Amino acid sequence: MTQIKDDCTNMLKEISALKDDFEKIEQIKDVETAIKEFDKNDAIYKKFKDTYEQTISKSSLDNNIKDEIKNRLYEVWVKSTLLDDEFDCRGWTIFRTSLTLSFEKRKESIRKALSTDAEILAKWWNDKKIMASTCFPNELGKSVNQIRNEIENRPFYNLLFIIQYERKPIGEMSANIKDKIAECGIKICEEEYQDKGIGTFVLQKFFDELFKSEDVVDKISITINANNERAMHVYQDKLHLTKTGEFDFEDANFNKQKAIKLEITKNEWKEKRGK
Ligand SMILES: CC(C)(COP(=O)(O)OP(=O)(O)OC[C@H]1O[C@@H](n2cnc3c(N)ncnc32)[C@H](O)[C@@H]1OP(=O)(O)O)[C@@H](O)C(=O)NCCC(=O)NCCS
Repeated sequence: MTQIKDDCTNMLKEISALKDDFEKIEQIKDVETAIKEFDKNDAIYKKFKDTYEQTISKSSLDNNIKDEIKNRLYEVWVKSTLLDDEFDCRGWTIFRTSLTLSFEKRKESIRKALSTDAEILAKWWNDKKIMASTCFPNELGKSVNQIRNEIENRPFYNLLFIIQYERKPIGEMSANIKDKIAECGIKICEEEYQDKGIGTFVLQKFFDELFKSEDVVDKISITINANNERAMHVYQDKLHLTKTGEFDFEDANFNKQKAIKLEITKNEWKEKRGK
């Protein structure tokens, strides 16, 4: 009991210092510095959850009391950390390391790629069948170490996500944001999960998220291999992107191929989504 009391007191102390921290973050104009600050606070949240799971939830207290402690602590956490406009804080929320998007009543989720994903990414990116349908054969041939290194040193505006189904990694999705244009890509790599509506669904949610914040992304752009009829159908007919250009490129076997650029602006997206 004394242990629990001490743990709770320590947690509360750390949490109460957070509001000041978050208010300071709001004043930071440089987004990269702000992300680092957010990361520090995410680490405190993890500690907060671990403490609960390791001490309180394992104690012999009655379950109702455990729930009550948990709820009270959570309330303090929320009050101390949520600024009014936190979810639109100049787009920072979409960049936060802890980002995981899971969807109510759906089995798909998206989470930020971690260095421990290097192995599965190497498997996918070295699979000629998967890569043949894309315009980026350059990813072929990368080692696990190279990919791990890239994930660890990825600039904050170059996002890489793992698509999961029931928490099993089934593909990846990316957005490289520059001059308010997000260059996106997706690969549902585990074949048995293709053609089940997952690609369309996660792209819709991802685009919603990218366009949600003020002043971060004005346009989404995707470049696809002209021979990828399924991707063309998904982007053009289901997600309403329009063709804005095309160019030739050489694939990994030096064969000439055609790439098509498709785009959608924030306003067009909002209109199509009715939001
Ligand atoms: C392209 C991709 C993202 C689509 O995601 P998905 O979850 O497989 O697709 P969905 O199930 O959401 O939708 C597929 C649609 O294409 C249709 N389709 C399937 N094969 C097709 C084909 N050969 N030609 C045209 N349309 C096709 C399906 O019928 C479905 O349309 P409908 O709902 O109108 O019937 C995914 O298949 C993928 O990642 N493939 C491998 C890598 C790749 O091609 N990446 C894209 C390059 S940027």
